[in-house]
Amino acid sequence: TGSLLLIAGLAYLLGSIPFGILLTRAMGLGDLRQIGSGNIGATNVLRTGNKGAAAGTLLLDALKGTAAVILARWISGGHGDAMQLAALMALIGHCFPLWLRFKGGKGVATFLGVCFGLNLWLGLGICAVWLAAVLVTRISSVGALAAAWSLIIWVLVLGMGELFGLSLVLTVLIYWRHSANIARLKAGTEPKVGQKAKA
Ligand code: G3P
Repeated sequence: TGSLLLIAGLAYLLGSIPFGILLTRAMGLGDLRQIGSGNIGATNVLRTGNKGAAAGTLLLDALKGTAAVILARWISGGHGDAMQLAALMALIGHCFPLWLRFKGGKGVATFLGVCFGLNLWLGLGICAVWLAAVLVTRISSVGALAAAWSLIIWVLVLGMGELFGLSLVLTVLIYWRHSANIARLKAGTEPKVGQKAKA
């Protein structure tokens, strides 16, 4: 139990590092909370017009998720439940970080990252769905929602039944964090990638 608590705490702390805010601040790109959707993720960083900062945010927010799962693997000696716990806690850390009074991001990059940490093929499959949906629709949140739902399908297709419960929780969490996006999608007002739309 001690090591599970340690793993959960470390994964939460890793997940809670708000790379979007840190990078935009360091690069003098303004206050992310006042830009576009106000979200702390790569999609919103792109609305500053700085592609490098957006790519960096996507990569670092994903890698912190992968790192949390890999760390859990080391600490637990490859225990599957410990890795799943780390995946969930990293995502919770990103969505509800202590440093931002629990008002964090939508979890997409970190979700992609933890999936890679859990299983390379799972990560690749989800990334492919995310990329394809974003390229076809040019709307980031559509990619996020498609990728989140596809997790459940990939888990079944790849025969990873032990991840089924976790996949439901992660998908519901991402779906719920996108409720404002879903409302905009229904209203037809969700901006395309890179468009500098208002909140
Ligand atoms: O990853 C978040 C993305 O799906 C939506 O971001 O800024 O358009 O709400 P945003």
